[in-house]
Amino acid sequence: MLIQRPRRLRKSQAVRDLIAETRLSISQLVEPVFFCEGNQIKVSIITLPGLFRFSPDLLLKHLEGSLELGIKSFALFPALPENKKNSQASESLNEKGLVPETIRLIKKTFPEATIFTDIALDPFSSDGHDGLVQDQKILNDETVKVLAQMAVVHAQAGADFVSPSDMMDGRVGAIRKSLDENNLIETGIMAYSAKYASGFYGPFRDALGSAPKFGDKKTYQMDTRNSHEAIKEVGLDIEQGADIVMVKPALSYLDIIAKVKQNFPQTPLAAYNVSGEYAMVQAAAARGMLDLDRVILEVLTSIKRAGADIIFTYHAREAAKLL
Ligand code: PBG
Repeated sequence: MLIQRPRRLRKSQAVRDLIAETRLSISQLVEPVFFCEGNQIKVSIITLPGLFRFSPDLLLKHLEGSLELGIKSFALFPALPENKKNSQASESLNEKGLVPETIRLIKKTFPEATIFTDIALDPFSSDGHDGLVQDQKILNDETVKVLAQMAVVHAQAGADFVSPSDMMDGRVGAIRKSLDENNLIETGIMAYSAKYASGFYGPFRDALGSAPKFGDKKTYQMDTRNSHEAIKEVGLDIEQGADIVMVKPALSYLDIIAKVKQNFPQTPLAAYNVSGEYAMVQAAAARGMLDLDRVILEVLTSIKRAGADIIFTYHAREAAKLL
């Protein structure tokens, strides 16, 4: 006789659904979208099969489709022409720039959509780094001043959450302070707190033409070999006013997601299923090496099971159709 037979709880789909510990919900997905200046533009991104860079008018059409599928939250990533970039990343502070204008357009058309905007200088910087550069060094405090102003520009345009992804020290506190000084108390901060220097960002940088022009991002993004440091970073961001914290990338860092959730269960935790993770799955599926739908659900479920509350994923629309 066997007293315990775990297979009894796997006997049918209904029983498995009854006892499932992890549940995926569309309401916890955030769809990242790429956009550029112009009109009637929809360009395929070669390294991210199935994804496009849209001009604002066609971005609206795309968002309408996503909203119909039940996706309500979006992360905006601008692609700027090289002639709008400079060493001071000054276009990042233009109140009439591509990002604030697009936020206003989306908010006017779809007030129900929740908008996350990226706070970092790389799309605007001729150096392709997240911060200001001097003598090939990434300046911290000077960068933080710009980021704090940039957050105000996005918040005034209607962003729901500004999302510092730059990994400068002290940026969350500085952003919270400048938002509050400008009476933007309702704008939240979703901090990319444990963001690793990762090879999995490659396709994203291709999508935006934002790869660093020299060196890499290892003096500000975290070292893959560390996990205690992730706890330190998340703790600092919460102390400084982050409403939501993030671990990025997701799949090679599931242990970090689990640790952060254990240490800070009271703070909503996001994980970013990044561009390289998406590209790997799409490339293998395109070659018939795996079943796309099944793997998408497995990937997203594993990120939730590890402890994420919110998932940023390029699979959002495909997943929404499956859920
Ligand atoms: C820029 C930024 C990056 C991503 C989000 N914001 C790239 C980077 O840090 O180089 C990566 C997203 C992805 O790969 O899907 N600060």
